[in-house]
Amino acid sequence: MNRLEELEQEAREEHIPVMMEDGLAFLCSYIESHPEIRKILEAGTAVGVSAMRMAGVREDIVIDTLEVNEEMYRQAAENIAQAGLSERIRVHLGDAAEYETDEVYDLFFIDAAKSQYRNYLEHFMKNTHRNSVFVFDNLNFHGIVDDPSLSHNRSTLQMTRKIKRFRDWLMVEPRFAVTYYKETGDGVAVARVIRDYPGYRKNTGI
Ligand SMILES: C[S@@+](CC[C@H](N)C(=O)[O-])C[C@H]1O[C@@H](n2cnc3c(N)ncnc32)[C@H](O)[C@@H]1O
Repeated sequence: MNRLEELEQEAREEHIPVMMEDGLAFLCSYIESHPEIRKILEAGTAVGVSAMRMAGVREDIVIDTLEVNEEMYRQAAENIAQAGLSERIRVHLGDAAEYETDEVYDLFFIDAAKSQYRNYLEHFMKNTHRNSVFVFDNLNFHGIVDDPSLSHNRSTLQMTRKIKRFRDWLMVEPRFAVTYYKETGDGVAVARVIRDYPGYRKNTGI
């Protein structure tokens, strides 16, 4: 077992919410089959497992990853430094919805607060180009989104209602071509930007 596999196992044992293994495999194979993907923004670093897996796909990949929890941020920065990946993975402490940059990204992996997915998406539209891709995890939320009887927890049900509203909206939103993989990870959607966003040129100065 290599160090990243060990780290991934330790994180899962400590109940750190790392993306499910088949979801990670899907994400990496998506990146692998799209050689034009070079710049990635991740919302929700946790301890850095998904960022390091994505960086492992190709040497030319660079990632900005955003984490709001200070302890997670610290652990991620340490893990990434130990793996010798600090040059290619930059960890930022703070709320993803408030992160400001002029960079334009090829892929956004959105894996932070589930109820904020639409906010993140709108916030980062100015950092897209035509064909940028947003990948969202947890749109199935252990089946509860489609079958609320699976949970009796009030806050979970409130969150899964929000996820459903977001998913239903995303599927028909004209700015994207969307594919939803219900059985992958915890329900993964890939939303490709199908035209230049009006703010793109203005915001990036291009
Ligand atoms: C599901 S975990 C991320 C797992 C990670 N992507 C992986 O697969 O290895 C979600 C993370 O998002 C962080 N988070 C929650 N809200 C956030 C926000 N508004 N901005 C940045 N990070 C946030 C949480 O602290 C948590 O560490």
